[in-house]
Amino acid sequence: MKSVDTLVIALPIYSFNVPGAFKAWIDQVARAKVTFRYGDNGPEGVLENKKAYVMLISGGTLLGSDLDFVSGYIHHVWGFLGIKDVTMSDSSGIGRGEEVIANTRKIIDCI
Ligand SMILES: Cc1cc2nc3c(=O)[nH]c(=O)nc-3n(C[C@H](O)[C@H](O)[C@H](O)COP(=O)(O)O)c2cc1C
Repeated sequence: MKSVDTLVIALPIYSFNVPGAFKAWIDQVARAKVTFRYGDNGPEGVLENKKAYVMLISGGTLLGSDLDFVSGYIHHVWGFLGIKDVTMSDSSGIGRGEEVIANTRKIIDCI
């Protein structure tokens, strides 16, 4: 994680949250004195100058809806580690078809 410039993550929503395996990875990555540290003003991330692309995918839980507990968490946890440049694509609601495919293509073109 410390050695990469760009993170590209395809993230499904499982039971209104991130998949357990992804959370287990975050638990390994978020380490005091390694990826964040305690400064005079509290915790600060040390993973600076990195970009993250996150393709959020779901069945019916829509990004930005009241049931979207994932996008806020992702922005928070990356920000906590110092990654502020986060681009998230809305591939939520796969039943929406072409709109979802177009949104996913947009982020792939960015990368
Ligand atoms: C265990 C499990 C839980 C899921 N929970 C949700 C959910 O809470 N909301 C939702 O919109 N989709 C849910 N889904 C659908 C997944 O988000 C969807 O399967 C995933 O984005 C990948 O798409 P795919 O199944 O076409 O590969 C769930 C899927 C699985 C397997």
